[in-house]
Amino acid sequence: MLAIDARDVAKTFRAGWIGRRETAALRGVSLAVPEGVIFGLLGPNGAGKTTLLSIFATLLIPDRGSVTILGHDVVREAGLLRRRLNMASGNASFLWSLRAGEILAFYGRLYGLAGRALAQRVDALLELCELHPYRRMLYNELSTGLKQRLALAKSLVNEPELLFLDEPTLGLDPDVSARIRGHIARLQRERRMTIVLTTHYMREAEELCDEIAFIKSGRILARGTAAELKRQIRIGDVIALRLDPPEVAALAEAPGVLRCVQENGRIECTVDVAEKRLPELLRLLHGEGAVVRDVQVLEPDLEEVFVELAR
Ligand SMILES: Nc1ncnc2c1ncn2[C@@H]1O[C@H](COP(=O)(O)OP(=O)(O)OP(=O)(O)O)[C@@H](O)[C@H]1O
Ligand SMILES: [Mg+2]
Repeated sequence: MLAIDARDVAKTFRAGWIGRRETAALRGVSLAVPEGVIFGLLGPNGAGKTTLLSIFATLLIPDRGSVTILGHDVVREAGLLRRRLNMASGNASFLWSLRAGEILAFYGRLYGLAGRALAQRVDALLELCELHPYRRMLYNELSTGLKQRLALAKSLVNEPELLFLDEPTLGLDPDVSARIRGHIARLQRERRMTIVLTTHYMREAEELCDEIAFIKSGRILARGTAAELKRQIRIGDVIALRLDPPEVAALAEAPGVLRCVQENGRIECTVDVAEKRLPELLRLLHGEGAVVRDVQVLEPDLEEVFVELAR
């Protein structure tokens, strides 16, 4: 079954009385997300990612289109869905004077938990997000990384089947964000949770997400696995060669070679598909009497795909 089936979703924000301003945040987004995957939404600032997540999480009502979440209509059956989903934002903030454990308990009560069940749930969440040592710390005394972990823990308080994470590793150092990614991957693996996250970090998307959609100016420009996107955008693979003699003119003319540049003592040949062209190039070099000292295949990273799409 699909966790999310969105069709032609549009949302325009209207602001101001005099000199009314309109911002079309989403302009007809259709997206299907299967159950049990980690799905990534990538795109430049203002693309509409948070708006889309908020609609999925029943926090905003779309102007047009339909969204079915876990088989239920997101507008008409919002109440029912809210028990089964949750959302965390990378720039969430909670009441500064509450302690970490109290914040989780507060949200637990909103979902009807009380007494022993509440205490157990809070305990389990502190454990899961490695927050136990900090449970008595005031919110405003927590570091950014701990606040983020607390936001993640809070979003799990109702044991959601579907989780929306808006920039879960925003502003975190590499070590802390790796741990958050670890938690996210574990939620999917161990609880079969469907997770939709937004991020500006390409490596994060590549590492975590089964599938990725690129969104820009309220439209989805491309979707697929990281590998599919790289192929779809066709930036090409790079075959980097260290040769003796260092230059072989025939390389640039070989079939499938898009360009060749000399780069710190190596020749970097951008080719259409590395697996296909590498043996051909090695044969050609052998025929030319050149010795291959070193060869490396460099795949384009998602960052390059992103820059290409965001243009
Ligand atoms: N409450 C609002 N009122 C008016 N305009 C809004 C509101 N929320 C979002 N917008 C506008 O809608 C567009 C999409 O915003 P959104 O926050 O969804 O983008 P985003 O992809 O999440 O960006 P970022 O990567 O910066 O978080 C932007 O132009 C933004 O200015
Ligand atoms: Mg956003």
